[in-house]
Amino acid sequence: MKFFVDTADINEIRSLADTGLLDGVTTNPSLVAKAGRPFREAVAEICGIVEGPVSAEVTATDVDGMVAEGRSLAEIADNVTVKVPLTMDGLKACRALTQAGIMVNVTLCFSANQALLAAKAGATFVSPFIGRLDDIGLDGVELIAEIRAIYDNYGFETELLAASIRTVNHVRDCALAGADVATIPPAIIRQLVAHPLTDKGLAAFLSDWAKTGEKIL
Ligand code: E4P
Repeated sequence: MKFFVDTADINEIRSLADTGLLDGVTTNPSLVAKAGRPFREAVAEICGIVEGPVSAEVTATDVDGMVAEGRSLAEIADNVTVKVPLTMDGLKACRALTQAGIMVNVTLCFSANQALLAAKAGATFVSPFIGRLDDIGLDGVELIAEIRAIYDNYGFETELLAASIRTVNHVRDCALAGADVATIPPAIIRQLVAHPLTDKGLAAFLSDWAKTGEKIL
C-alpha cells in the first residue's frame, strides 16, 4: 500500500519525505487555508520535495471552470494530480482532464456507486472519506472493501485511495481491505511506528549490551 501524507504543511512534508516512506501528498482547500500560504506557491514547493503524485483541488464547480483550473494547476509540475469533487460536473471534468493526459483524483466519495462512476470516468485515483463516514455512524472501511471488490470484478485501473483517515487502526484496516493508497495525517504516520514493547525490548537490549563493555565500532 502506498502512503501519501494528507497535509499542505511544508515542514511536515519535508520531514516525512526524509524517511523514504512517502509516495505522494494530498491537499484540499481546507488544508491549504490552514497552511496559510499562496496556493500555487505551496503546490510548486511540495512538488519539488516529493516525486510522487501531489493532489491539488479545483474550486470551480462547473465543468468548464474545473477543466480550466485543472489545466492551470497541472502546469505547475508534472506530478500534480488535479482533484475534482464527485459531482456530475466533476466526473465530466475528470474525463476531459484524463483525456488531456492529466492525473485526476476524484474526491469526496462516500458510496460504492460513486466510486464506480469515478472509475468509469477514467479517474487516476478515487478518494473515499472513511473517517467522515464513521463520524455519522457508518462504516468507512466497509466502503473500501466494497470498492475493492467492484474494481477487481471489472479490472478498473483507478487506484483506491483511502482518505479521511483518523487512526492507526484505519491504516491497518484499509491495508487489509486492499486499498492501493492511504492518505494519512502526519501525526498518524508517526504513530504507526510506535509500540511500547519495541521501546521496552530495545531498552533491555541496550542495558544488557552495556554490561558487556563491548563496542561494535
Ligand atoms: C484527502 O484527500 C482528504 O481531503 C482528507 O483526507 C479529508 O480528511 P478529513 O475528513 O479529516 O478532513
